[in-house]
Amino acid sequence: MTPNPWLDMLNLINGFQITQAIRVASALRIADHLKDGARSAEELASLTQSSSDALYRLLRALAAVGVFREGDGRTFALTPMGDCLRMDAATPIGGWVEHVGNSAYWEAWGHLLHSVRTGENAFKALHGVDVWEYRVKHPEANAVFNRAMTDMSRGGSEAVVKAYDFSGFGHIVDVGGGQGSLLSAILQTWPQARGTLFDQPQVVAGVKEQLQAHGVVDRCAIVGGSFFDAVPEGGDAYVMRHIIHDWEDDEAIAILQSCRRAMREPAKLLLVERTVAPPNELPGKFSDLNMLVAPGGRERTGGEYAALFEKSGFELTRMLPAGTFTIIEAHPR
Ligand SMILES: C[S@@+](CC[C@H](N)C(=O)[O-])C[C@H]1O[C@@H](n2cnc3c(N)ncnc32)[C@H](O)[C@@H]1O
Repeated sequence: MTPNPWLDMLNLINGFQITQAIRVASALRIADHLKDGARSAEELASLTQSSSDALYRLLRALAAVGVFREGDGRTFALTPMGDCLRMDAATPIGGWVEHVGNSAYWEAWGHLLHSVRTGENAFKALHGVDVWEYRVKHPEANAVFNRAMTDMSRGGSEAVVKAYDFSGFGHIVDVGGGQGSLLSAILQTWPQARGTLFDQPQVVAGVKEQLQAHGVVDRCAIVGGSFFDAVPEGGDAYVMRHIIHDWEDDEAIAILQSCRRAMREPAKLLLVERTVAPPNELPGKFSDLNMLVAPGGRERTGGEYAALFEKSGFELTRMLPAGTFTIIEAHPR
């Protein structure tokens, strides 16, 4: 095919349409309704209390980009991609699209220009509070975000337990561990270990049931608090997945210093983050913009993590690939 840079550009620009179309399909639980086989748009419209004409138009558009497969008589079936939108998929992703398509978040991306002009966090400039304060005040946004994190972490947790040997640790503290999906995967894989799940009180409030469902509740303490004040002491390993990238350097150093104060030799610090790829390669770069817009942080290179460690009493020991992420290991200096 003849290269058409204009059309390539148009397709990039129109990416927003795909995001919202997937969000609506996810919110209407279309993938769950297709779990047992194809259904017509009319049937799906009645199951989801939607307009059959508008729903048909949504589904045929999504079939054109591989989310569903359109058959005869306006019927639709799941594709492997669409299957990930099921609530009970092995590696679900519906929580993520419902989070990024949610109006407060979506509007913040509409203020990217403000971030680029000023270097400021667009979400805070727009809503007057940062994402964390916003979620305290909006429990429904908090629930959507927590589900997004749990969805995003499912496949990632598997990669972490495959990539890193936790067998030498008796007590693992997951700092900012959300609803415990990574810590559960670690404790399920390494039965010698016990864990402490540490996060903000409103995040860990209902987490016991999830730890119970994962069969690790008896080996896991749940602690609510702020990592800017203190983190639980006495761990052999301190894990932080997707925490430091949420923050600019001053806050990141403060969080690392809190961990450092809680740690005794030979405890290890393990960050799980997306490291920024070399020029012209994709990994990390849009996530970095997402950090600029929403929580007000940044993705970093290995060298930039080493510099943060230097300022907070750690030394980088090694970096291991774990799926699309990197485990960045450090020890107290
Ligand atoms: C991007 S999420 C990552 C969650 C989890 N580590 C994972 O990988 O799914 C960031 C987490 O940091 C937590 N967090 C934000 N501010 C915090 C604070 N001051 N103290 C403790 N946790 C905090 C949030 O509640 C959220 O669960």
